Amino acid sequence: MIKKAIIPIAGLGTRLLPLSKAVPKEFLPLADKSTIQYLLEEALASGIEEVVFVVSAGKQREISSYFNPSQKLEKFLQDKKKDDILTELNQLKDLSKNITFSFATQKEPLGDGHAILQARKYSDEPCGVFFADDVVDSKIPCLTQLLEVFQTCQKPIIALKKISKEKLPHYGVVGVEKIASRLYKIKKIVEKPAIDSAPSNLAIVGRYVITPEVFEFLKKTQRNEKGEIILAQAFERMIQAGKTIYGYEIDGEWLECGDKLRWLKSNLYFSLHHPSYGEELQKFLKEKL
Ligand code: UTP
Repeated sequence: MIKKAIIPIAGLGTRLLPLSKAVPKEFLPLADKSTIQYLLEEALASGIEEVVFVVSAGKQREISSYFNPSQKLEKFLQDKKKDDILTELNQLKDLSKNITFSFATQKEPLGDGHAILQARKYSDEPCGVFFADDVVDSKIPCLTQLLEVFQTCQKPIIALKKISKEKLPHYGVVGVEKIASRLYKIKKIVEKPAIDSAPSNLAIVGRYVITPEVFEFLKKTQRNEKGEIILAQAFERMIQAGKTIYGYEIDGEWLECGDKLRWLKSNLYFSLHHPSYGEELQKFLKEKL
């Protein structure tokens, strides 16, 4: 049973500048919750009990102040009888009560793989990995879908989603051998392929299950031309070394938040589907368009 997950959040979020100068991208809202809250909710719903955040300087404080209860604030809201707001804050309490937070530091933004390597002291067992750019809205939580596969295969798993041809050059795309419904053996990984040379229409979503062996390969992975160590490159090395890595085509809506347009679309998606505000927002949009 996997009980641990790593969430690297030490990237600079340059595609969301200037916003990300003051608000780390994990705290940008999707409707009325931060991206990181969606990830933690998915982790909790998937049975995760410990999350290791890989942070840059200062972010540990930001995570703690977002998730830790504030007695002063709660008392203020109680005194003012703002019960609805208290209920929303209590959702955060549930997360911090049921999940233990640990922190590892990445001093410089040297890539997603380098960030995960900083959490290696927690890596004596398989764990989930969440990239903060990707939120998945699904009946069965995205990580749960991967964990169900892991129970039988006990190998690293990459979440996959089919995308249209013209989008392929913007994603990591996998070459695969299909072995069951939605389940694939990964044969190769190509970063941002040209449309005609893409090995499939299956793109990598930022959700993984990794094993301690992945850390061994991350340690051996050379920095790329940008000076970064990338998780996908470590997977590629593993495949070349004859290791098995699975891909699972997840069920659900893939909402991306890594750049402005994707984040705006995801924000709209969650706002228009919001149980309290969705209907009114849909009317508003119809009036304005
Ligand atoms: P991204 O490549 O999408 O994030 O990393 P970024 O580098 O912050 O964004 P841009 O390209 O500058 O806009 C995917 C995940 O890996 C983390 C990010 O925080 C995000 O959760 N990451 C990335 C790190 O923790 N450290 C890094 O050096 C790079």
